[in-house]
Amino acid sequence: MKDLSVQNVDMVYEIPKAASVHALENVSFDLEAGRLLTLLGPSGCGKTTLLNILAGFLAPTAGQVKLGGEVIKGPGQDRGMVFQHGALFEWLNVQDNVAFGPKMNGQNEGDYLGLGDDLLKTVGLQGFGDKAIYELSGGMQQRVALARCLANEPDVILMDEPLGALDALTREKMQGLILKLWQETGKTIVLVTHSVEEALYLGDRLFVMAPRPGRIERDYSLPFAEIGLSVEPRELKASPEFIEKREEILSLIWEMEEEIMGHIGEDG
Ligand SMILES: Nc1ncnc2c1ncn2[C@@H]1O[C@H](COP(=O)(O)OP(=O)(O)O)[C@@H](O)[C@H]1O
Ligand SMILES: [Mg+2]
Repeated sequence: MKDLSVQNVDMVYEIPKAASVHALENVSFDLEAGRLLTLLGPSGCGKTTLLNILAGFLAPTAGQVKLGGEVIKGPGQDRGMVFQHGALFEWLNVQDNVAFGPKMNGQNEGDYLGLGDDLLKTVGLQGFGDKAIYELSGGMQQRVALARCLANEPDVILMDEPLGALDALTREKMQGLILKLWQETGKTIVLVTHSVEEALYLGDRLFVMAPRPGRIERDYSLPFAEIGLSVEPRELKASPEFIEKREEILSLIWEMEEEIMGHIGEDG
């Protein structure tokens, strides 16, 4: 099991003929293996930038990230990414999408097809293996994206607003699936969301981030993800404890927004 350690990470985007953007400033945190961290914050606070740095798609301007004690220097199989839109291979059927990684890694056909079947069952798509991607709803496509990610057996799963494009009911079902996968696989998950409710429900740790420069404003450890494994989502989300935390975070974000709007006002 690999712990994640983010040490004094800065990210500055240099833009030709324009002011540079300080997307992340001095971001530091340790995340034990097996935690589910949600990142919440307004647009532009650096959530995607942070995920891309964890994935190794971007190198930070300063600081470093270690996974299991090793400095991350680029993309690797120990980290998998799930995007808002599945980013699935449209020319492959469901089964071949899921088996793509293991197949490329030279696993034999019997193994990767068996693994694919198991994973489709895990994400609730048993029997959908030979469907084309375009035949699937948005929610089902995200299930395939999750299965494809799991097939590579990453230690850390990074998700950038994975449920952001789904309708409310599908979204709630998928939240339950993510909790189930988290429990069954014991993997570390870092999930970006715009929804306070989703961040609270899924995060056993939650960062509220703030923009300009992008930073971690508040670091919460929360009980709801654990409780959500055994309690119905509607019941949990209607509980006084949940509502109290939700209102606390909403007020915090509201204050941040006012501050941002104030700054924009000053700039003219
Ligand atoms: N490739 C890039 N070049 C220049 N600026 C960027 C680039 N990517 C992101 N930014 C800027 O960095 C800030 C953080 O962006 P991002 O990480 O996408 O935030 P979020 O995902 O929280 O909306 C924003 O101000 C955004 O405009
Ligand atoms: Mg983003």
